[in-house]
Amino acid sequence: MADGTRFDGRAAIVTGAASGIGRATAMRLAADGAKVACLDMADAVEETVALITEAGGTAVAAKVDVRSGDSVRAAVDAAESAHGPTAILCNVAGVLRFAHTHEMEVAEWDLLLDVNLKGPFLMCRAVIPSMLAEGGGVITNVASSAGMFGQAFMVHYCASKGGVVLLTKSLAWEYLKRNIRVNAISPGGVETAMTGSVSFPEGIDFGLIAKTMAVDNKMMKPTEPAALIAYLSSDEAAAINGAVIPIDHAITA
Ligand SMILES: NC(=O)c1ccc[n+]([C@@H]2O[C@H](COP(=O)([O-])OP(=O)(O)OC[C@H]3O[C@@H](n4cnc5c(N)ncnc54)[C@H](O)[C@@H]3O)[C@@H](O)[C@H]2O)c1
Repeated sequence: MADGTRFDGRAAIVTGAASGIGRATAMRLAADGAKVACLDMADAVEETVALITEAGGTAVAAKVDVRSGDSVRAAVDAAESAHGPTAILCNVAGVLRFAHTHEMEVAEWDLLLDVNLKGPFLMCRAVIPSMLAEGGGVITNVASSAGMFGQAFMVHYCASKGGVVLLTKSLAWEYLKRNIRVNAISPGGVETAMTGSVSFPEGIDFGLIAKTMAVDNKMMKPTEPAALIAYLSSDEAAAINGAVIPIDHAITA
């Protein structure tokens, strides 16, 4: 249930905010009282801001390509000049592809590693100085159940999300004494543009990816991982640090 006083005007940045989990997270943080900077490379990020504003929340949009340090710096500067130093960062932007590894273009490997793993690193690098200056902050990264076990036909996605898991744990240790908490969530299937538009290469054995599907093919709404991200971003989760929390209908149980 949204609580308009939970974040009490704290400044939050959400990447991937044009769609799916990122949009739901931006909307939930705003409904819980944060001032939200919605970052994405897609124009639809403006729609997220409109949805938040219409609901009485505070939000700005900034275009970003999370693969680029310069673009990230400019977007974080825009967010902080609108709302002040960042207290909450949610790294949600991501891309998913399936491929046979022996046929994979290097460009496709680079795309997934750059968006899914380098992106969170660049965002953390840009935002942590403000958090240190303000005495703390909280970062939540979106990993995946595909970062918790090996999976056929998505070696680049699994490697990137496994990287997010250890990026998260390493940052939690590094900033433990400086009051920056860093956690990740690890979702199973979520109904978003990403899962709605997935395409598979010819000749894959679907039996080999069956373990990524929840029993009865259960999927969740983007509001469900968004609620978990909002909880982790809140003071109620003060003792949760360096955690990677599954939200996956027991896929990884
Ligand atoms: N949907 C699922 O089942 C699922 C499961 C586990 C993890 N995830 C992860 O959740 C996150 C959100 O996924 P989603 O399902 O909401 O997908 P989505 O496709 O709905 O949203 C992803 C957003 O990321 C943005 N984006 C992509 N590349 C970008 C870049 N270079 N710079 C800035 N923005 C960029 C897109 O424009 C898009 O708005 C991703 O990290 C994804 O890997 C999704």
